[in-house]
Amino acid sequence: MPPSLDELQTLARQAGEILRGGYGLEHTIQHKGITDLVTEIDHLSEDLIIHTIRQSYPSHRIVTEESGNLQGDTDHCWYIDPLDGTLNYAHGLQLFCVSMAYAEQQEVVLGVVYDPMQDECFSAERGRGAWLNGRPIHVSTTPDLIHSLLATGFPYDQWDSPLNNLEFFNRFSRRTQGVRRLGSAALDLCYVASGRVDGFWEISLKVWDIAAGSLIVQEAGGVVSQLFGTPHSLAPPISILAANPVIYTLMQDVIRIP
Ligand code: IPD
Ligand code: CA
Ligand code: CA
Repeated sequence: MPPSLDELQTLARQAGEILRGGYGLEHTIQHKGITDLVTEIDHLSEDLIIHTIRQSYPSHRIVTEESGNLQGDTDHCWYIDPLDGTLNYAHGLQLFCVSMAYAEQQEVVLGVVYDPMQDECFSAERGRGAWLNGRPIHVSTTPDLIHSLLATGFPYDQWDSPLNNLEFFNRFSRRTQGVRRLGSAALDLCYVASGRVDGFWEISLKVWDIAAGSLIVQEAGGVVSQLFGTPHSLAPPISILAANPVIYTLMQDVIRIP
């Protein structure tokens, strides 16, 4: 039996309780890169998720941010980000979440993103729709860039990489009502899905950042692809462009300006 969306939501809420319980406390911080942090709470959340999945689905593969790839049947694969928005979390900003996706035969079929501070649980099931706390959600109907609000993110190697997203940030800042940098790619995608922002783009992401959120956008009526329009993929290198269908096309035009 495959897992149910309810099971994912219950588990994401349990992990979210760990994040909420640790919020604002002093943390043990390790550096994976200059600006790429991990706290003991990331590990506690991930340990709970792995332990729970292993109990019910011992043969499944689990791809996690902090513990790596746990071997198992690749036709039944979980993608886990136990705390998306760690930098926010470490600084006491309330924008972070748990992101969990389940894929069959390399296709994500269930996705859940839980924000414990807002008690917002975004979810989707392939072919059945997307929801926020059980209510259906849809992407916005904003028809042009001038009325749009976008979100983006910057890669952890932005200090020294020429692929730093600043050119696209510049282009969209001058064509829209604004561009937000929230610090949680999974929530950025859910905010597209629920129409809070009209589009989101980012480069240099990892599969656990986007596996759940991209399904949630698609099931909410949005379009998702790689940044330059090639089909959405879970294989690295991962970039993403997600938006309502009209804004998606208009963003593509801006991205393609030579
Ligand atoms: C990060 C966040 C951030 C994005 C980074 C991600 P983490 O995930 O989603 O918004 O810009 O690329 O790595 O490290 O907080 O799980
Ligand atoms: Ca992440
Ligand atoms: Ca993380």
